[in-house]
Parts: sequence; C-alpha cells; structure tokens
Amino acid sequence: MTGVFSHLDLTPNRLELARQARAAQGDLIDLTGSNPTTQGLLFPSEVLAAATAAYWQQRCYRPDPRGDAMARAAIVNYYSRRSPPLIITPDDVFLTASTSEAYYLLFSLLSDPGDNLLVPNVTYPLFEYLAALRNLELRSYQLDEEHDWRINARSLRRAADERTRAILIVSPHNPTGAIVDRPLATLNLLGIPVICDEVFAPFTYAAANTPPLAALHPDLPVFTLNGISKLFALPDLKLGWIALNQPARVFAARLELLNDTLLGANALSQFLLPTLFAQGESFMSAMVERVRENLTLALNRFAGHPRIHARAPAGGYYLFPAVSDWDDEEALALFLLERGVFVHPGYFYGDVPGCHVMISALTQPAVFAAGVERLCAALA
Ligand SMILES: Cc1ncc(COP(=O)(O)O)c(C=O)c1O
Repeated sequence: MTGVFSHLDLTPNRLELARQARAAQGDLIDLTGSNPTTQGLLFPSEVLAAATAAYWQQRCYRPDPRGDAMARAAIVNYYSRRSPPLIITPDDVFLTASTSEAYYLLFSLLSDPGDNLLVPNVTYPLFEYLAALRNLELRSYQLDEEHDWRINARSLRRAADERTRAILIVSPHNPTGAIVDRPLATLNLLGIPVICDEVFAPFTYAAANTPPLAALHPDLPVFTLNGISKLFALPDLKLGWIALNQPARVFAARLELLNDTLLGANALSQFLLPTLFAQGESFMSAMVERVRENLTLALNRFAGHPRIHARAPAGGYYLFPAVSDWDDEEALALFLLERGVFVHPGYFYGDVPGCHVMISALTQPAVFAAGVERLCAALA
C-alpha cells in the first residue's frame, strides 16, 4: 500500500487492549483525561446560547481569508493584555479550524518535503503525524529534566542544519509544564522561524505567568498558536489561530492564500469568540484553580513517596513524574492498570531517560484524588 500512514500498524497496541479489558471490569480510574467536556468543565451554556441566538439573527456568510474581523480584534486585545504585552494588529491574525490545522498550515508555509523541523525530545505525539502529511523530518532537541525541563541550547544548535525550516516550542509544555520565561540566545543565533504553541498559557502553577515567546523575541519570526480547545474548554467548537509578530509578516500574503485554500474556521465559532473573551474570564479562572488544586494535592502526596518523584511544573495541566526502580514504562503502565489506575507511559511523549508516567490534573477532583491514592499505594 502507498500513501500517508500506510507503513503504520493501526491495530490497537497491548496497552490499549489491556485498558479496554480492565475498563470492562469496572472501577478503573483514568488519570489521563485531557478533554475538559468529559471532566465536568463546561463553558457556561447560557452565555453560548445567548451569543448563538444573536448569530442566527444576522447570519450571512462573507468569509475573510484571515478570519472574521471582530474575532481577530478580540485576539489582538487578548495579546495586548498579556505580560509582557504582544503588540500585533488584526492583519497579523489568521483564524483556523484548530491549533492542529494551524500547525499543518505553517508546516506547508515554511517547508518542502524532505526539510526538517526541530521538536522537543519529549512532547505530545501529534507532531509526527502532522509532519508525515508533508513528508517532513522531525529532529529532536533535548529538554533537561534536571533543569526543570528547560530547553538544552546546545542540543538545539546541534539539531539544526541547512534544511531546518522551523523550531517548535510548546510553552507551557505538554506534558512537562515547562515555560520559556526569558529570551533564548540560541534562537536569535539560529535565526530560524519559531512556532510557539501556547494553548496552556493561562494554566500557570509554579510560574507567575506565561510570557508570549513572540514578545521575548521581537526580532525573530515567531508564529504564536492558540485556540479555544484549552483556553475556553471548547474543543468541540473548533477554532484556533496563528498570530504573527512583526518579523513574521513577510509570510502573511502566502499564509492568507493557504488559509483561503481550506477556509477551515467555522463562522459561528468565530462570531462567538469576542463573547468568549468578554464573558469567559470567571470560567477560565475556575478551571485554572481546579488544575492548581489537583496539582498541589498530587505533589503533596508524592512528596514523601519512595518511588514517585515529581517536580512542581511551571504550568500546563499535567504531571510527568519519574518513577524509580522501574525501567520498562509499558510494564509499569500495565502493572498500574491491573491495580485499577490508568496512566500514560512516558514513551507516549518521546524518548526520555528513566521511567515516567503522565497524569492529567484536569481530572475531576474526587476522581483525581482517588487515582493518586491508588497510584501511590500500587507503587509503595
Ligand atoms: C500542546 C497542544 N497543542 C495543541 C493541541 C490541540 O489543540 P486543538 O484542539 O486546537 O487542535 C493540544 C491538544 O491536546 C495540545 O496538547
């Protein structure tokens, strides 16, 4: 068979089969949930209903290749209120169907088949699939666990070559929570465009805030990605965006044509966006608070544990603790599954030394607390 993904074995893996079998027995605690709508985090429906009703009254499809002007103005306003502010104009914003689609557009914009992109050695697994759509090579740079998962500048320099078209940075990072909080001299040295994914921006924990990387690097082309899946817990409404800083503007005309080619962002969600920003603040704060409380609970519980070693993350909504006295992450995940708690093995996120598991602090608090107890007991 030819075509994308034709080389992959698409049958469920051993862990997924075991998870299904264990779930069928009942009483399995899933600590991996990252879909807010299944964790009781629902954006106020009355706000959505009122704004949607207004849409039907004035409905008329006039697509703009960059996206609805009011939605783009709301995004510009959002960045002006970040710390430090990122000053952009509505022309610098492109609305897409999702952050994932935004990546796809940028990969197409910046690279040709055979080129490469630099990605962290541990990260959420979407990049390899998106890169495969464009026949791009992924080269990894290291995040140093002993330095709170900070980007290892030397490995970034080593990974880059003449066919490197972009550096991907996720801040706050999934799953380690690391936040890039200061300019990186290596990025300026390399001068390669940066794609910065900030979908977890409001979710801070040890860090006071998430500075927009584009503001830290005003002389480098930086494409900032975000969307409503995490920001407003609305993954079903499908809306993301790309914000260009000033040096990235040279790409704007071609990006407009690319976005016009798909016109993926739906008009209703674009119409809702100003209302989400205007009325979503208290919901967003409650969501951030839930994650913080869960993180604190888990960190306190792990603090005295002989085998589970967790660091307070700068942000994000995951914990990625190391587990000592195990060397096989899949065997560990299967062992925990047998004891009624499902976690992701570290290798789902890349190739990091040691044995890690991923747990999501977005989980409903009572379930999260019970799951953390089970995890601790199983590894005691
Ligand atoms: C770091 C990161 N970026 C992007 C996404 C996907 O966002 P979207 O729903 O906008 O495609 C996820 C989803 O988990 C994510 O973890």
